[in-house]
Amino acid sequence: MSEFEKKVVEYTQKLNNSKNLKELNSINSEIFGKNGIINTEFKKLGSLTAEEKKNFAANINKAKQELTNIHKVKITEILDQDIIDRIKKEKIDITLPEKEFRIGKVHPVSQVIDEISCIFSEIGFSVEEGPDVENEYNNFTALNTPENHPAKDMHDTFYLDKDMKTLLRTHTSPVQVRTMLKGKPPFKIIAPGRTYRSDSDQTHTPMFHQLEGLHIDKNINMGHLKGCLNYFIKQFFEVDKIKMRFRPSHFPFTEPSAEVDIGYRIENNKIVIGEGDKWLEILGCGMVHPNVLKNCKVDPKKFQGFAFGIGIDRLAMLKYGINDLRSFFDCDYRWLNHYGFDPLDVPTNYRGLSK
Ligand code: DAH
Repeated sequence: MSEFEKKVVEYTQKLNNSKNLKELNSINSEIFGKNGIINTEFKKLGSLTAEEKKNFAANINKAKQELTNIHKVKITEILDQDIIDRIKKEKIDITLPEKEFRIGKVHPVSQVIDEISCIFSEIGFSVEEGPDVENEYNNFTALNTPENHPAKDMHDTFYLDKDMKTLLRTHTSPVQVRTMLKGKPPFKIIAPGRTYRSDSDQTHTPMFHQLEGLHIDKNINMGHLKGCLNYFIKQFFEVDKIKMRFRPSHFPFTEPSAEVDIGYRIENNKIVIGEGDKWLEILGCGMVHPNVLKNCKVDPKKFQGFAFGIGIDRLAMLKYGINDLRSFFDCDYRWLNHYGFDPLDVPTNYRGLSK
C-alpha cells in the first residue's frame, strides 16, 4: 500500500468518526485544502512520465471522489443528529398548565358530581359505575319491584326490545345490585351517572343524573343513615347548620323508606338553604330491603345497611341558582360560559368545593 493509499484509509476513518461540523470542516481542509493530501499528491504529477501520469491521476481522482461522497453522507448525518438533539432539548412539558388557560368550562353537573364524590370519599365511600343500558332484572326485579309497579310501565321506562328485557336504566339503583353481586360485604359506595325516564317539562328531562349511595355492614341502622346525610348536606351546601326532615315514604327496595327534605327560605329572589320554614325534597333513602340483599347474595341476618338516591341536577340547580333544568342540556356555549366552572379549580374538601 502506497503512502497516499494509507492516508486515504486514515482520512476515511477520520471522516467517519467525526462528531460535529467543526471537526468535519477541519478534516475536510486536511483532505481537500490547498495543502491537503489530494493537492499534495497531484503536485507529484510533474515528475512522472506521460504514461505514468494517467494511472496516477486516475487513482487520485478515484480517492477524491470516494472521500467527497463520505464527506457528503457525514454532513447529512451530523445535521440530522443536530435536529434530533434540538427537538429533545426543546421538549415542552405539557403537564404544566399554560398561563392564559381560560378556554372551556366544566359543566355544573360534572362539577356537582366531583363535589359530591369528594365529600363522600372523605368518609370512606368509593365510586362505582354501571352501564346506561341495563337489564330488567338489575333495574327492577332484583330491587324487589313488583311486576305491576307503575315505574315498569312503557310510559315511564324506555325499553330497548319488544320483550322488555333491556332498557335505559330509570335510576342508579341497579349499581347497588351490580356492586353486591360482584363483591363481598361490607360495601360502602356511591354511584353517579345518567338515568332515563320518559318525562319532559321545566323540572324533568328524559335524561337526568342521579347519585346512588349504599352502605352495607354489620349493625348499620337508621341513625347511621341520618348522620351520613346530615354531614353530606352541610358539606355540599357549605353551611354549618342545616334543617333536615325525614318523611315516611315508599320504595320497593327499602324498608323503612323515607324522603328527605331540607329547610329553606327565599331572600332577594335567592334560595337560602338551612333556614326558614319552606321544605324542599332532595332525595329518597331507606334501609335496604332484606329481599334485595337476598337477591344480591348477601345474608340479611348478618348484614344490613342503608341506601339513598339523590337527584344531581336538582342539587346543581339549587346550589348554583339555575331555574330551568332543560338549559343544562341545550349545549349553549354562552350558558356554559356563565354557569360553568374553571377546569383548573378542582373541588377539594380542604381547599373548598365551589370557591
Ligand atoms: N331509585 C329511587 C328513584 O329513582 C331513589 C332511591 C330511593 C334510591 C331510595 C335509593 C333509595 O337507593 O334507598 O326515585
